[in-house]
Amino acid sequence: MLALFPESAALDGADLTLGGLSSESLAEEHGTPLVVLCEETLRANARALREAVGDGRVFFGTKALPSVALLRLLREEGIGADVASAGELAFAEAAGHGGETLVVHGNNKSTGFLRKAASIGAPVVLDASDEAELAAAAGVEQVLVRVTLGVDADTHEAIRTGHHGSKFGLPPDQARAAVADALDRGLDVLGVHVHVGSQLEDFDAQAETIVRLAAFVAGCRDELGWTARVADLGGGFGIRHHPDDHVPDAAELARGAASTARLAFVEAGLPKPEVWLEPGRCLVGRAGVTLYRVGTVKRLPERTWVAIDGGMSDNPRPQLYRARYTALSATRADEQPGETVSVAGMHCESGDVLIDDVALPTPRRGDLLAVPATGAYTLAMASNYNGVARPAAVLVRDGSARVIRRRETIDDLLRTELG
Ligand SMILES: Cc1ncc(COP(=O)(O)O)c(C=O)c1O
Repeated sequence: MLALFPESAALDGADLTLGGLSSESLAEEHGTPLVVLCEETLRANARALREAVGDGRVFFGTKALPSVALLRLLREEGIGADVASAGELAFAEAAGHGGETLVVHGNNKSTGFLRKAASIGAPVVLDASDEAELAAAAGVEQVLVRVTLGVDADTHEAIRTGHHGSKFGLPPDQARAAVADALDRGLDVLGVHVHVGSQLEDFDAQAETIVRLAAFVAGCRDELGWTARVADLGGGFGIRHHPDDHVPDAAELARGAASTARLAFVEAGLPKPEVWLEPGRCLVGRAGVTLYRVGTVKRLPERTWVAIDGGMSDNPRPQLYRARYTALSATRADEQPGETVSVAGMHCESGDVLIDDVALPTPRRGDLLAVPATGAYTLAMASNYNGVARPAAVLVRDGSARVIRRRETIDDLLRTELG
């Protein structure tokens, strides 16, 4: 079970400690739900991915967790940022990123967003047939073209993106036309982009995509006399959320993706590309643990509900993708499981269930639950459903905790109300 938790997680008798601090002391000081991020794990993940791409580049998929402190920490480790909205771009700028260390995404970029990208010299990934025109008009100089090569990744359909009919990217004929259009408009077309899907648990879909990508670029060379200097392979490497999950190490997958791309391009008679990757989840997912306080425990003939003080407003992934989590009793970790229970959120939806079944020491009001592998796409997707304020996040290391996102207050929620 501890293997799902960050590197600094340990058991001190009954207590789960994170970054050298007891979970209970973190919960008491900062309240719950609380997202605890382990700095040691973040830096180790960043270094492993950087090493895996060799002379390529790594951009953090900011959507996984837009946090200025996190972006700054990753920047210290040589990681750029992939941003998909003006808001994410503002987070990245606040963390010290400029054009050189950014890559700009979005399947429907606003003119303002394109102008902002142009003003700081960030490369833009074209995602639609008329976007070369819009990008050129906004003053963008460097672009890539996102191509969908018809590969169905073995992942939940909501996070599959490289198939034909996807709302992202362009199929090969339209992508080739977009390259030609961008060249005609005097844009520097750096290369091509693919993102097969997220939470990939093997390398098959990516390997097939990379082979098709090399063939696509070879076709562009033959027809347009242009070839890609950059192969941006997107993100998507999965992580383990549950003891039953089997997912290869992300750095190994990244190393495989980079070397497969270099080989596929050379075999297609193309120059070796500079490989870019845009990992999100595998950089921050395992670094994060969410702490919840147990409230009502309801024992019914059908099942036992353990209600926590959060739920779909801080982690909607079970509802969006049927994501499966587990939990540890953070203050009674030395006790044997006494009951298999369901962990319910506090929201007015029957579907607001964080965990369907988990064996815990017989739960009681006041227990502290720790849910591992919750650093990615949780706070990033948090909402104010039921007027619930979004949680705080702390970065822990060597016995100290730094608040990197303060807890929202009800006054924050009322601040945007008028009339
Ligand atoms: C273009 C692009 N790059 C990177 C990512 C990050 O993916 P992941 O968090 O699965 O690594 C995404 C996720 O949706 C994406 O769409």
